[in-house]
Amino acid sequence: MKNTNELQRYDDNTRMNHWVIALLFFLAGLSGLAFFHPSLFFLSGLFGGGTWSRILHPYLGLAMCLSFLGLFLRLRHENMLNSQDKAWLDKAGEMFKGNKAAMPPVGKYNAGQKIVFWLMAGSLLVLLLTGILFWHAWFPFFPVWARRIGVLLHAFSAVVLVLTVIVHVYAAIWVKGTTRAMTRGTVTPGWAKMNHPLWHEEMTRGK
Ligand code: HEM
Repeated sequence: MKNTNELQRYDDNTRMNHWVIALLFFLAGLSGLAFFHPSLFFLSGLFGGGTWSRILHPYLGLAMCLSFLGLFLRLRHENMLNSQDKAWLDKAGEMFKGNKAAMPPVGKYNAGQKIVFWLMAGSLLVLLLTGILFWHAWFPFFPVWARRIGVLLHAFSAVVLVLTVIVHVYAAIWVKGTTRAMTRGTVTPGWAKMNHPLWHEEMTRGK
């Protein structure tokens, strides 16, 4: 950390954990999209063809879920929704108009980030449980009706996860000064004061 005023938002392990998830998300996502619609089957070429994509996709998905579990266990307490979040959500319209000054003060995460966190956790859990239903190589015993429901719910939660990640990445880029939290691990005091004033207060108390 060069500038001592910078505030530590994530340690090295958390950042590594996050980028491993992001990498696995793209690999599992691309190999899964290959089976989503025939027009996307060409994506299987990235993984050595249809057979290899079918073999690798569940392992990539499982690795993504296990990596996410690491981040989930680290960050779940900070993502619990509370009464302050309700006030923030009531004013969310102002946020989209760019009127940040009208927003109630938030701590480490705002309600939008927390909802994104729980949507990621929920969709990954459904992806994992439904994926097991039709991972034939290891679990050949589920009845056809269960596998069919599994395939449908799997595709649905994949769409939810992809849309959620698009919102997540868009917000990370849109709010200037945020990406460095996950690349360098630190943010500027100005960024913290502007976007997460209660967290800024907590981090600088007694300094
Ligand atoms: C290229 C893709 C991605 C970029 C650029 C990105 C960027 C970021 C940034 C900048 C933060 C810090 C936000 C803050 O502290 O205010 C963050 C946090 C986080 N990211 Fe990502 N991310 C990406 C992909 C993903 C994916 C694929 C997942 C999970 C499926 C994910 C899950 C998370 C979680 C759980 C947090 C912590 C926020 C919280 O706990 O509410 N990210 N990301």
